[in-house]
Amino acid sequence: MKAAMILGCGYTGKRLARLLCEQGVRVRGTTRDASRAAAISEAGAEPVILDTTKVVSLISLAEGMDVVFDMIPPRRIAQGAGSGGSGKPGDEESFEDDTAAIVAVCAGARLEKFVYLGSTGIYGEVAGDWIDEQTPVNPASPRARARHAAEETLRAAHARDGFPAVIVRAPGIYGPDRSLAHRIKRGAYRVPGKGDNYLNRIHVDDLAQILAAAALRGSPGAVYLATDDQPEQARVLADFCAGLLGLPPPPSVDETEAARTMGESNLAMLQGDKRLSNRRIKEELGVTLRYPTYREGIPASLEPGERSRS
Ligand SMILES: NC(=O)c1ccc[n+]([C@@H]2O[C@H](COP(=O)([O-])OP(=O)(O)OC[C@H]3O[C@@H](n4cnc5c(N)ncnc54)[C@H](OP(=O)(O)O)[C@@H]3O)[C@@H](O)[C@H]2O)c1
Repeated sequence: MKAAMILGCGYTGKRLARLLCEQGVRVRGTTRDASRAAAISEAGAEPVILDTTKVVSLISLAEGMDVVFDMIPPRRIAQGAGSGGSGKPGDEESFEDDTAAIVAVCAGARLEKFVYLGSTGIYGEVAGDWIDEQTPVNPASPRARARHAAEETLRAAHARDGFPAVIVRAPGIYGPDRSLAHRIKRGAYRVPGKGDNYLNRIHVDDLAQILAAAALRGSPGAVYLATDDQPEQARVLADFCAGLLGLPPPPSVDETEAARTMGESNLAMLQGDKRLSNRRIKEELGVTLRYPTYREGIPASLEPGERSRS
């Protein structure tokens, strides 16, 4: 890989840009907002202004690139409050997605790989079972259905034209400035229900190395689960984070109240109950995780002054 385009060079994209630049790759990273260009430059990438809702900005996006990484999420369109919607939690949700338009542009570009960052939210409810890449999906929330449709677009392009799509599904992405501990510190987290459901996560630096490995060694048409070694129950995880900060365990919230305040898709994410296997990223992509569990990853995501103990 000599040149790579990161569509949606946000939290994960900037970490990936930094990693690829260190490996000698020429990187471009997109944003819709010119004020974010400086942060993309700081990560070592050339900033490009791109908005997938504007077809004109898609033209030539993959020109001269070997690999495109697509990090752009489906767009939430609020309903129920007239046209335009209010976008408040609790509104009925629907999503739009631009993967088909992006693929149409990239199909002519002779890419080595097109790496799509999707979500493990598309598995739906499995009552704490173990899940791998072969497990059938069951997208239950509006966001998960939009994600699934994006993946189907990529699979169809691969089957039809050999489009070199590799799908990486991530659970909760955390790292510096963004983790459950940060939410608890802000008083912005309550454990929905009993908290005995299993949640999964990946540190952003490990996700970056998994995405880079997927570009180099991933099989076109394949799916990879980018998750760490230890699914954990929501309450155990929350109490661990609060303990790190020297705070009392965060309160619980009953599920009806959580649905009202968090929105259907956010609640589905926090209430998910599954245990994800990372066997394939280790065996096929040769990944060695820097933060195999939250027990190393969350303390490393906090500034030294934020922790009550080391
Ligand atoms: N956060 C999680 O726990 C999690 C878990 C699983 C999967 N994911 C998915 O993984 C991807 C990366 O996550 P992240 O947390 O790094 O996200 P992020 O920081 O929000 O980055 C996503 C980027 O997409 C860009 N974007 C959004 N809509 C766009 C549009 N219409 N046209 C062009 N660019 C657009 C945004 O760019 P600007 O705002 O700068 O224009 C933003 O930088 C996302 O698709 C996310 O949904 C996230």
